[in-house]
Amino acid sequence: MIPKRVLITGASGLVGTKLTEMLMQEGIDVIHLGRSAKKKQVPSFIWDIQHGVIDEEALKGVDAIVHLAGAGVADKRWTEKRKQEIRESRTRSTQLLVEQLKKTNHQVKTFVSASAIGYYGFEGDEVCTEASKPGSDFLASVVKDWETEIDKVQELNIRTVKIRIGIVLSKRGGALAEMAKPVRWGVGAALGTGKQYMSWIHIEDLCRMFIYALRNEQLQGAYNGVGPYWVTNKELTTAIAKVLKKPLWLPPIPGFVLNLMLGEMADLVVKGSKVSGRKIVEVGFTYTHPNLEEALTSLLSNRKPQT
Ligand SMILES: NC(=O)c1ccc[n+]([C@@H]2O[C@H](COP(=O)([O-])OP(=O)(O)OC[C@H]3O[C@@H](n4cnc5c(N)ncnc54)[C@H](OP(=O)(O)O)[C@@H]3O)[C@@H](O)[C@H]2O)c1
Repeated sequence: MIPKRVLITGASGLVGTKLTEMLMQEGIDVIHLGRSAKKKQVPSFIWDIQHGVIDEEALKGVDAIVHLAGAGVADKRWTEKRKQEIRESRTRSTQLLVEQLKKTNHQVKTFVSASAIGYYGFEGDEVCTEASKPGSDFLASVVKDWETEIDKVQELNIRTVKIRIGIVLSKRGGALAEMAKPVRWGVGAALGTGKQYMSWIHIEDLCRMFIYALRNEQLQGAYNGVGPYWVTNKELTTAIAKVLKKPLWLPPIPGFVLNLMLGEMADLVVKGSKVSGRKIVEVGFTYTHPNLEEALTSLLSNRKPQT
């Protein structure tokens, strides 16, 4: 079934902005639910997650929800307060949606939520599939709690899909923009040992995955939102330098330096995991950007359209 009207939460972010464009190009009505309604190109409704308030009109005519909202994991140092915000922006927002779905006479048939490969923890050499156990670090516990709330949507007989998103490559922000900056300045370097695995995905493919999940009724449960293969941090940094035609001459930045600079948040860059994207491919999904160098060229080269 093709949804006609899709409500996106956290739509002002990296993924939501691109997904909104792609859904609109397909002629699907998009509406946003966020913390403010300023400067929006589509109808927008407001919620206040902390106070459990949501605009009653938000679900009107909506047949599918895409849930992306969550405080940026890499935006600020992980103080106890920030950690609580990272967790509650995801768990409480999902709870609020569930409460609203319970008390409203709605037509929502499909719920596709962001989740994250952080679910698996940092697994080193083991390949993580959707059947793998959750990890035990901070991010893994956040994602596990988040998914527990997402699963409550399925209990309302709404088809629910969780996309466990990997490292999203986009020109507009996120990991690639941060990694490309020093490389452009000629001071790029691998991080930590450089051997940690990075399970990447091109933003266009990630958004196509969300659209695939919205459309295909056989999809339900968790799917890894990653590309067809992972690389090491060093391989990714080297590929960025190659595409930008910049030299990479500095030694890797040691993990202890990153720990001093970032605290516990350094885990995001000095650790990694090998995550398999096979499950979604087995139900028919195909990638537009399966090759890392081509994906980077499409994002970093000035001659190609910006994504
Ligand atoms: N990008 C990645 O590499 C990646 C990897 C794994 C998982 N994910 C997950 O995928 C989702 C979308 O990713 P993204 O890169 O688009 O994230 P993003 O750019 O940080 O956007 C997330 C959006 O969530 C809303 N938000 C921010 N802080 C919030 C808070 N305290 N309470 C409630 N809402 C808040 C904001 O939308 P409004 O201002 O409109 O409310 C924001 O634009 C996120 O949940 C993220 O954790 C992303």
